[in-house]
Amino acid sequence: MMMIEGDALPTLASQRLVLRWLEHRDADALFEIFSDREVMRYWSSPLWADHADAVEMVESVRRHFAEGSLYQWGVARRCDDVIIGTCTLAQVDTQNRRAEIGFALRQDHWGQGYMTEALRTLLTFSFEDLKLHRIEADVDPRNAASIRLLENLGFQREGYLRQRWFVGDEINDTVFYGLLRSDWPTI
Ligand SMILES: CC(C)(COP(=O)(O)OP(=O)(O)OC[C@H]1O[C@@H](n2cnc3c(N)ncnc32)[C@H](O)[C@@H]1OP(=O)(O)O)[C@@H](O)C(=O)NCCC(=O)NCCS
Repeated sequence: MMMIEGDALPTLASQRLVLRWLEHRDADALFEIFSDREVMRYWSSPLWADHADAVEMVESVRRHFAEGSLYQWGVARRCDDVIIGTCTLAQVDTQNRRAEIGFALRQDHWGQGYMTEALRTLLTFSFEDLKLHRIEADVDPRNAASIRLLENLGFQREGYLRQRWFVGDEINDTVFYGLLRSDWPTI
């Protein structure tokens, strides 16, 4: 059974943002985000070097949606619909009602509460509409902004996993976070 039915992801709106289905016309905006060394510093794969990576992402969002395994929304500014980030439910496990959250934001938009706003919207949708029971996050322990963001949203630190990711010439640890449906204030 698919967790989200239909042809595309539903659009989710907040005060300043819209979480929406990614289109091929968003490829340039996506490239700007994922080719930035700072944005990709603690990512689990190397930064994009080629514009074709952006086109491939839009294609893979469609493939994964069709499989029901990963749902990736574009985060657009409500005022002009320009994509400034993405947020994702990955490792979607229907049987156990859990998924792993992921997020990235264009660097010139950091520190203005945008990802807090986007994740609040996505988490509310995940618990209330998708009826997920648990959301997980796998973060590099040095990624202070992401850790702060998750802890502010109520995620609890559940474990430390050593040398979990080979990225370029590094082997990186993981700090693992979890948020239960019963932890989420609107439920
Ligand atoms: C993580 C990220 C999405 C945060 O987006 P953002 O919109 O700037 O976050 P917000 O403004 O909503 O707030 C994040 C919190 O982290 C804090 N923060 C931001 N940068 C920080 C830093 N370098 N060190 C410590 N805390 C930091 C903010 O002050 C805020 O906490 P506060 O409200 O208690 O002050 C953004 O930094 C990013 O895209 N990083 C690169 C991608 C990434 O690492 N993704 C996660 C992979 S698991």
